[in-house]
Amino acid sequence: MQPILELQQVHKHYAMAGEQVPVLRGIDLTIDRNEYVAITGPSGSGKTTLMNILGCLDRPSAGSYLLAGQPVTCLDEREMAGVRNRAIGFVFQSFNLMSRATALQNAMHPLLYRKMGRAERQQRGMDALCKVGLADRAGHLPSQLSGGQRQRVAIARALCGSPSILLADEPTGNLDSATTRDIMALFDALWADGSTIVMITHETDIADHCHRVIRIEDGKVSADRRRQRNG
Ligand SMILES: Nc1ncnc2c1ncn2[C@@H]1O[C@H](COP(=O)(O)OP(=O)(O)OP(=O)(O)O)[C@@H](O)[C@H]1O
Ligand SMILES: [Mg+2]
Repeated sequence: MQPILELQQVHKHYAMAGEQVPVLRGIDLTIDRNEYVAITGPSGSGKTTLMNILGCLDRPSAGSYLLAGQPVTCLDEREMAGVRNRAIGFVFQSFNLMSRATALQNAMHPLLYRKMGRAERQQRGMDALCKVGLADRAGHLPSQLSGGQRQRVAIARALCGSPSILLADEPTGNLDSATTRDIMALFDALWADGSTIVMITHETDIADHCHRVIRIEDGKVSADRRRQRNG
């Protein structure tokens, strides 16, 4: 079976004050369809940088990235945006909500790029907000929401298009344990429907919940272990 995500010798460096600062230093990684993966590692090790490349938000400086067998490296900006909108749901570490849009408008935003009428988009957006427990905050702007509520709007936005790949950067970082359990149940349901889940987390119980844990240290994969699954 063809892997859904495949990185070969991916390097990423940033230019800072005329110098190239290496962040990813030769990542080889293959993720199959419908895997449920955690990415862990120290702060600054390159996890978000890696996730941005997986999500077609950024490009490798060197190396290749195949998404469902297609070389992403060859796509132009418009094609990259197309892939993002069709296949990928993204939960950003910093939420990235539109500040002038309500919770509902934020949640339904990815559906703008689908062939879908306004009423259906609104219905799906509301369904997603209900799932994250925010039905009663649909009309609030991000500035009128708590930090954890903003995070849940960001999760609703990622889930509402039923993406075939969910990429989530610390999705439960600021949430209480009951809300975290609810969010994980939503991710589990998406996974049970066939989606591939890749999630950055610092929390060991969340990582243990995933079926595979990849550790990034200093821009390289330092460990990659699959958990024995019961049943
Ligand atoms: N746009 C950028 N320009 C320059 N350096 C950057 C840029 N983005 C990230 N870096 C650097 O790359 C390194 C890795 O950053 P990254 O955000 O990937 O880390 P991380 O593993 O996600 O950390 P955290 O757990 O704190 O979120 C850091 O040292 C950071 O300073
Ligand atoms: Mg990060």
